[in-house]
Amino acid sequence: MQIPTLETPRLRLRGFRPADAAPLHRILTQEGMLRYFPSPAGPSRERVEAFVRNQIDQWGTVGYAWWAVELKTTGALLGWNGLQYLPETRETEIGYLLDHPWWGQGLATEATRVSVRYGFEDLGRQEIIGLAHPENLASRRVMEKAGMRFRCQAEYFGMDMAKYSLDVRAHEARDRSRTAM
Ligand SMILES: CC(C)(COP(=O)(O)OP(=O)(O)OC[C@H]1O[C@@H](n2cnc3c(N)ncnc32)[C@H](O)[C@@H]1OP(=O)(O)O)[C@@H](O)C(=O)NCCC(=O)NCCS
Repeated sequence: MQIPTLETPRLRLRGFRPADAAPLHRILTQEGMLRYFPSPAGPSRERVEAFVRNQIDQWGTVGYAWWAVELKTTGALLGWNGLQYLPETRETEIGYLLDHPWWGQGLATEATRVSVRYGFEDLGRQEIIGLAHPENLASRRVMEKAGMRFRCQAEYFGMDMAKYSLDVRAHEARDRSRTAM
C-alpha cells in the first residue's frame, strides 16, 4: 500500500523507512524519553528495527499506523505521530513522541491535529482515543489542545492511564466553530 504523506506548516508526516531505525534509536535512548511508557528502558537497535518494520507492515494489514515525523526544512527525523489500532478494545489511539530538543514548540500538537483529522475524514473513524500516564502532563496537554477530552482512568498496556477521546461529531463541531470565527 502507498503510505499517505501529510503536511503541516513545519512538519512532514511520512511512512517509516528502514533507514529511520538509526536516528530513531538515538531519539529513543535519550535519558527519560520513555519515562511514561510500559518499558521505560531505551530499546536495543534490533528492537527499533523491528518496530520500524512493524509500522510499515501495519499500513498493509490494518490500513493505518504511526507516521515518521520529519522537519520540512531539513528532512531530519524528529519522532512519530499517528494512529494505531488496539485490537483488544477495537479502538483507534493517537500516539506521539518527539526528539527532546524539539519539545515545547507546539510541534506535537501541530502533528496530532492532522493525524486526528486524517482519522476522521480519510479513515472514517467514529472516535479517536488518547492514553497517557496520568503524570505525563505534556502528553495530556497535547490531547486537550487537539480537542480531546478527559474521560476516565482506565487500564491499558498493564498500566493505569488517563483516557481521552474525541468523536466525529465533536470534531465536526470544532471545525464548524473554527470556520465561523
Ligand atoms: C509529549 C510530547 C510529544 C509533547 O511534545 P511537544 O511538541 O513538546 O508538545 P506541544 O509543544 O505541542 O505541547 C505541549 C504542551 O504541554 C505543556 N507542558 C509541557 N510540560 C508540561 C508540564 N510538565 N506540566 C504541564 N504542562 C506541560 C506545554 O506547556 C504545552 O502546552 P501549552 O501550549 O498550553 O503551553 C513530548 O514531550 C515527548 O515526546 N515526550 C516523550 C514521549 C511521550 O511521552 N509521548 C506521549 C506518550 S502518551
